[in-house]
Amino acid sequence: MRTKIVAGNWKMNKNEEESNQLIKAIQNEISTVNLSNTRVIVCPPFVNLSAASKTAKDSKIEVAAQNMHEAKNGAYTGEISADMLNSLGVSTVIIGHSERREYFNETDEVLSAKLKAVLENNMEAIFCFGEKLSERKTDNHLLEVGNQLRNTLFDLKAEDFKNIILAYEPVWAIGTGETASPEQAQEMHSFVRNVVAKNFGDEVANNISILYGGSVKPSNAKEIFSQKDVDGGLIGGASLNANDFAAIIKAI
Ligand code: 13P
Repeated sequence: MRTKIVAGNWKMNKNEEESNQLIKAIQNEISTVNLSNTRVIVCPPFVNLSAASKTAKDSKIEVAAQNMHEAKNGAYTGEISADMLNSLGVSTVIIGHSERREYFNETDEVLSAKLKAVLENNMEAIFCFGEKLSERKTDNHLLEVGNQLRNTLFDLKAEDFKNIILAYEPVWAIGTGETASPEQAQEMHSFVRNVVAKNFGDEVANNISILYGGSVKPSNAKEIFSQKDVDGGLIGGASLNANDFAAIIKAI
């Protein structure tokens, strides 16, 4: 059975105190929820990871990072290494978010190097990909996502996928209030699973969790999560509110 995952990407939101409060409030909301075979992850900004890890210790909530540099260490002002995250007990990290691709020029080449660094350091990646509105409108969404996957994943080994969670995030649905329809999500998730099956075998494809991200909220989570190849969500805005995030977790 594939693991179900609800992950909250907090982006550049919440200071340390607010971050701890939000984790405690989520804990409170989900304390009686049966989470067998389901992981709940929150991804606060770097500076709050240490405190957040302590606050979330011994709870149902895991703490992950939003980004990581690919180099071991060195003169990369403002960057964070795998070793730094590991030393905080943070071993899962989002790689390739469309905001990193767009605002910080993270190309497929850079993301491929980041993925390798994650895997070499025995960490786990939540790897994001997705098409832009223009690509969706011209019916090139499958082609574009196929290209992104080919450029970043195809030189990995089948065993690497034990430490990879995939996240389909159509750029046009992120923070816009517009969500992919359940059918659009299913079409893409099924396409991605087939691409993985073709290149790495059925076992890898059947076991990998593929999350949907893009304006998931309590009112649409159940419908999206009910799709056969959707194994959970990567939630932005709605993960900043404990009630909403808990409602989405309950919808899985
Ligand atoms: P929203 O849920 O705010 O659309 O953001 C999705 C996202 O980017 C998660 O990584």
